[in-house]
Amino acid sequence: MRIGIIGAGQMARALGNGWVAAGHEVRYGGRGEVRDAAEFGDVTLLAVPVSSLTDVLAETTFDGKTLIDCTNAFAPDEGEMVLAEDAVAERVAKLAPGARVVKAFNLCAAEVWESDEREFEGRRLVVPLCGDDPDSLVQVEELVRDLKAQPARAGGLHRARYLEAMSVFVVGLWFTGTDARAVLPPLEAAFAVPDGG
Ligand SMILES: NC(=O)c1ccc[n+]([C@@H]2O[C@H](COP(=O)([O-])OP(=O)(O)OC[C@H]3O[C@@H](n4cnc5c(N)ncnc54)[C@H](OP(=O)(O)O)[C@@H]3O)[C@@H](O)[C@H]2O)c1
Repeated sequence: MRIGIIGAGQMARALGNGWVAAGHEVRYGGRGEVRDAAEFGDVTLLAVPVSSLTDVLAETTFDGKTLIDCTNAFAPDEGEMVLAEDAVAERVAKLAPGARVVKAFNLCAAEVWESDEREFEGRRLVVPLCGDDPDSLVQVEELVRDLKAQPARAGGLHRARYLEAMSVFVVGLWFTGTDARAVLPPLEAAFAVPDGG
């Protein structure tokens, strides 16, 4: 697949290097190169600060292509991190009306993708995906598997806000020294019935 990456920072390189290693063609779009990267990609990853989204997305169009949104709107508030806005992914979809947006890769730090480790305590790392377009979800699932992680569909794009909130909440726990993995029981002990969907 040809993957355009908007941004050339830490997340762009961490995910981009993994996809190159899996055999994909990657083009990075730093400042002045956003349009070039978006036109190159069958799929585009948006990996810029939320504060630059309006400017960046005004530079290009997506013509029905998949746009992966890994951004997080973190803002410091009296020493804690909070969400700077309700849902970035839905704003991305409004700012890029020709794109089929999938929220993904916003939970793990870039360092996780820079490393080769994908199994923790015997469980493969799961990447939740929120998006409305079935074909785009299939594309992003493939890109998750190419990074040796396991995709999980987590609802439509309207649910991306919970993924974004989860990210800021989990980072807050990590900063207090609490292992976020320990706050939830495993599925077998969760008293929840998976619907298989
Ligand atoms: N790092 C993580 O662990 C992590 C994890 C999950 C999600 N995220 C999210 O991923 C996104 C990128 O994070 P990052 O850590 O990769 O940031 P980063 O290392 O600071 O890189 C940001 C990139 O965006 C570019 N950029 C900024 N403003 C731009 C503009 N107006 N036009 C074009 N390019 C612009 C920067 O270019 P310059 O260098 O020229 O400024 C840089 O290449 C953020 O939304 C972040 O919340 C990060």
